[in-house]
Amino acid sequence: MASSPTNVGVVFGGCSGEHAVSIRSAQTVVHGLNLGANRQRYQLVLIYIDRDGRWWGHDIAEKVLTNGYPPTGSDLPQPLPGPGFRGLPAGADSVSIWYPVLHGPNGEDGTIQGLFELMQQPYVGAGVLGSAVSMDKQAMKAALAGAGLALVPYVCTQAEELSVAAHREALLNRIEAELSYPCFVKPANLGSSVGISKVQNRDELLQGLSLAASLDSRLVVEQGVQARELECAVLGGTALRASVVGEVRFDADWYDYDTKYTEGRSTTLIPAPLPEAVVETIRSQSIQACAAVGVTGMARVDFFYDDSSGRVWLNEINTLPGFTNQSMYPMLWEASGVTLEQLVHELLESAGQ
Ligand SMILES: Nc1ncnc2c1ncn2[C@@H]1O[C@H](COP(=O)(O)OP(=O)(O)O)[C@@H](O)[C@H]1O
Ligand SMILES: [Mg+2]
Repeated sequence: MASSPTNVGVVFGGCSGEHAVSIRSAQTVVHGLNLGANRQRYQLVLIYIDRDGRWWGHDIAEKVLTNGYPPTGSDLPQPLPGPGFRGLPAGADSVSIWYPVLHGPNGEDGTIQGLFELMQQPYVGAGVLGSAVSMDKQAMKAALAGAGLALVPYVCTQAEELSVAAHREALLNRIEAELSYPCFVKPANLGSSVGISKVQNRDELLQGLSLAASLDSRLVVEQGVQARELECAVLGGTALRASVVGEVRFDADWYDYDTKYTEGRSTTLIPAPLPEAVVETIRSQSIQACAAVGVTGMARVDFFYDDSSGRVWLNEINTLPGFTNQSMYPMLWEASGVTLEQLVHELLESAGQ
């Protein structure tokens, strides 16, 4: 006898710079949840979070997914409620498992995961700790370095160090003593390359720090490396497994926002052409990295690889990686023998483990 379907709450959109990508990711997730046996297994309750953080129920969410872009003012009931979470929309009380498809702050950083914990309901992907640690590049690097994983040399600082001239000079001196140009200056808590600068000298370093400090109070400066960019997908409950390794290539100096999101400017190679030993290093370090930051469920782990020296450095862990039909995460699993239909099912099966 067929059992009744499980009600899955698919939450997308969100109060972050990656709102538009989230809508595209959710289209792919929903497509996967309607494929084959999933259609009988799952009943979907769609929830859309607008750019101001308001939560909207199934009908508005479905329209956003169908259109592929955020609602205009006339699509939403007026007057609008205040911004932010004001409680679950109608229909959400039937949800028994949550599937967040949100990228960046407010979705990938442990905040929504905390809400699901408070509701005592299972959800797809990493928990509060793994999400929060992976989101903050300072915390992530500390955890990864503590686990003995190789990272490019880096310096952490806080925005307030820039506000007093004497501290600012001392900071620039410290960075120049520890790293050499080019360096990458990053806000610790954004994504999609937003607020990142590649800098070649002290003036640009200060400009890069000021830009990053206007976006986040926590900053990281890294030694720039000349390297290929490799990515590996991780999946599972407490027992994680790693996919084949993929590579991103692009026609730009580095993988900045425009290059990431302009069609045709980057290509993916799956699997990446690599010596077997490098593939194995990357796959095993991906699992070790997830253990180091407390990530279960799902992650995409990104690396730099210098093929002239053979060195591998771990760059970052993304706990809610892009899930569009062009995204590395589902494509890496497809190439590893896990179809989209199986992938979304496995992610739901691993929720709460
Ligand atoms: N230390 C570095 N050396 C060389 N390139 C880097 C370095 N750090 C970042 N980059 C470039 O900037 C891109 C974005 O940096 P990343 O830390 O992955 O930020 P985000 O979390 O926004 O994706 C990388 O994909 C890479 O192209
Ligand atoms: Mg990145």
